[in-house]
Amino acid sequence: MNQRIREMREILAKVPKVQLGFFPTPLQRLDRLSEKLGVEILLKRDDLSGISQFGGNKIRKLEYLMADALKEEADTVITYGASQSNHAMQTVTACRRLGLHPVLYLTDLIGSDEENPSGNLLLDRILGAEIHLEQPGTGDMMEAEERIREKVKVRIETLKGEGRTCYEIPMGGANAIGSLGFLEAYLELTEDLLRKGQVADYLYHATGTGGTLAGLMAGKTLIQSKTEIVSIGVGIGGEEYKGKVVALSNGAIELLGRKERVLEEDLSVMETYYGEGYEVPSAKGSRAIRLLAETEGILLDPVYTAKAFSGMLDHIEKGIIEKGSRVVFWHTGGATALFAEKKILGDIY
Ligand SMILES: Cc1ncc(COP(=O)(O)O)c(C=O)c1O
Repeated sequence: MNQRIREMREILAKVPKVQLGFFPTPLQRLDRLSEKLGVEILLKRDDLSGISQFGGNKIRKLEYLMADALKEEADTVITYGASQSNHAMQTVTACRRLGLHPVLYLTDLIGSDEENPSGNLLLDRILGAEIHLEQPGTGDMMEAEERIREKVKVRIETLKGEGRTCYEIPMGGANAIGSLGFLEAYLELTEDLLRKGQVADYLYHATGTGGTLAGLMAGKTLIQSKTEIVSIGVGIGGEEYKGKVVALSNGAIELLGRKERVLEEDLSVMETYYGEGYEVPSAKGSRAIRLLAETEGILLDPVYTAKAFSGMLDHIEKGIIEKGSRVVFWHTGGATALFAEKKILGDIY
């Protein structure tokens, strides 16, 4: 295993990357919760990744994406998301760190109060991003993104006319280049564990646009790790979801010039824990937030990590995760949603 990790590290080192976050992030044993549940739970703290105090999983992707933007000599970065997008907020911090102009096209799924923004929208404002708040219409996020794309084309033309060079990052930073960040993250986790002479039986995490999962699967496949990755969907992934993730995984592997491939049947995606929809809190998620807060003093977010954590707790309760197993839960950040619209938080106290 060590040899394979070393080999991958050498290959990755040749890919352009900018240093944005604080890595490796801590791998923290949850002593009290582990004792309570009879399973060893380790938390991979990407919520502490930086750049700002409000970290998250996108910083890893952005280290590769921003390097690509700089290679293209971009001075403006355009990206997409919901009005409370963690990805958008983290992209703005990365732009500020590198002196680039951040442009956001945000779909307002929850009806934001533009006069009194909260959560990530407030942070985007404080960070001085150029914000275009768009209405969702009747469609879902993906449909809205298509519609917005047309507006972006016009904006890019204007920016070009002002002498600017634009670089576009897809929603969630979900492309092959971004997925390299989580390919590397899988190596990092394996190294964290190996230093303690450990391996993980399971790895649980929230999956949305799929770039995190794609990178993790690519990393796992390249180093032939046996850890079972269980991905909890935070929205309806649909029939094409696995195919999309596999394309991202294999795109990342190809960028490294390797021949290994991830297959759809390698993925384990659970779509039973997202509740009523994206940004709609679930009762199980709220309980998960309270449980982790009250046993360990650590905060989850209602949109992603709470739903994923509730899936892991359910699997422990049902014995799908056997007693005595070692489980890593990837804390992908997002706790700024605790300070967003009450609709997103739900009845939590
Ligand atoms: C806090 C948090 N967790 C998990 C995810 C899911 O990551 P991905 O979009 O790479 O699937 C996101 C994505 O926005 C997120 O903000």
